[in-house]
Amino acid sequence: AETGSLSIVLLGASGDLAKKKTFPALFNLYRQGFLNPDEGHIFGYARTKISDDELRNHIRGNLVPGKGASGEQLEEVSKFLQLIRYVSGSYDSEEGFQLLDKEISKHEFSKNTKEGSSRRLFYLALPPSVYPSVCKMIKNYCMNKSDLGGWTRIVVEKPFGKDLDSSEQLSAQIGELFDEQQIYRIDHYLGKELVQNLLVLRFANRFFLPLWNRDNIDNVQIVFREDFGTEGRGGYFDEYGIIRDIIQNHLLQILCLIAMEKPISLTPEHIRDEKVKVLQSVLPIEDEEVLLGQYDGYTDDPTVPDNSNTPTFATMILRIHNERWEGVPFILKAGKALNSRKAEIRIQFKTVPGQKQGRNEIVIRLQPSEAIYMKVTVKQPGLEMSTIQSELDLSYQQRYHGVTIPEAYERLILDTVRGDQQHFVRRDELKAAWEIFTPLLHRIDNGEVKPIPYRPGSRGPEEADQLLERAGYVLTHGYSWVPPTL
Ligand code: BG6
Repeated sequence: AETGSLSIVLLGASGDLAKKKTFPALFNLYRQGFLNPDEGHIFGYARTKISDDELRNHIRGNLVPGKGASGEQLEEVSKFLQLIRYVSGSYDSEEGFQLLDKEISKHEFSKNTKEGSSRRLFYLALPPSVYPSVCKMIKNYCMNKSDLGGWTRIVVEKPFGKDLDSSEQLSAQIGELFDEQQIYRIDHYLGKELVQNLLVLRFANRFFLPLWNRDNIDNVQIVFREDFGTEGRGGYFDEYGIIRDIIQNHLLQILCLIAMEKPISLTPEHIRDEKVKVLQSVLPIEDEEVLLGQYDGYTDDPTVPDNSNTPTFATMILRIHNERWEGVPFILKAGKALNSRKAEIRIQFKTVPGQKQGRNEIVIRLQPSEAIYMKVTVKQPGLEMSTIQSELDLSYQQRYHGVTIPEAYERLILDTVRGDQQHFVRRDELKAAWEIFTPLLHRIDNGEVKPIPYRPGSRGPEEADQLLERAGYVLTHGYSWVPPTL
């Protein structure tokens, strides 16, 4: 492992993402010993003029583990907060970034790290409109000190543009300043435990290898549901909509992992090569295979225009034109303000000839209640000979007692420090992803495709279920999986 000074710089430190996700993830890494206080320093940078302590107080609430926090836990939080320094400045100010560099350098030369190393991680928790200017400032004033060795890396968050052109433009601007090896594009779904399990499940099990194709699988569903609306984020959301917010990134990344061929090796480049191939094999999306929705009351938000055409719900079918998947619909479905919160992958197999009981399915439940379960037909226990649907169930809480599943951001930030790009989106992957959705997005933006209203707290527009049926999905009546309780 590398040693010497490590500086994690959080740009946009006073914002929402930093407070809710990034700082808590850093704290968890610190708690588990991954941020050695002799080496690691955290810097917050933002425009707001506040003191170190004001920033610390601003984020403290999200670190303390709720009411009954013990004295020990509170002490841990305080120690962590002491690692944080704050620098204020604007995102295009030379003085601001010179000052930031000075602060970082101080620690790099401190006596504790005389080994000498200058590892600098810049996390842009910022709107993408300022990425180019911030990257330029970093490049001009804040690069790691080459005589000390180390590296400089940049972490960016979606939205990476709004369509193919804007995204390519952004990629080109950042690409002029940093090498692809220095750029970490986060899709936090790639940090989820069960998403990270997908390749293991697929390629390390004899059960699945021969069945994973069009001869056996009838359809695949990748579903994201939230039981709350766009509260407080209406302005951001209305510009992007559910396809850009969830489907083009989170669900599409999952599709890649389900559909890709076995990579030559488990190195990041080989894995990402295979993902790109899948994306490039996706056919243009047909209008009659898209169903959009917008929940009633969405436009009541003062930051959302009354005539907004932005979808808050979408079901659509993607078709992969290759030998393995020809004819198998990949149904992507995402919605806000629905009746439940969950994310899952549902792989439905073809009917067994003569069997009326219902189809086999493998369901990978990403959240909540992480689980992998297989729906199987068995004999109903008892004297009669009749069959029922049941399940083989690997529920994580039950099987892995006392194991805490790490937060996605925690894992991904650790990867950036370790220099592992496997779970980050490569530039050509991003481009291929935008190529799939841009024509549809433009039609929506122009008002040519319209969302159907649905009631908040419902399952979404009924027409979406009809689309599913047309795609060949067969619902098993009278069966539902209940997450086991301890
Ligand atoms: C974000 C979206 O990327 O993911 C949000 O912008 C969404 O709209 C969130 O709520 C969901 O993430 P998670 O990890 O809670 O499923």
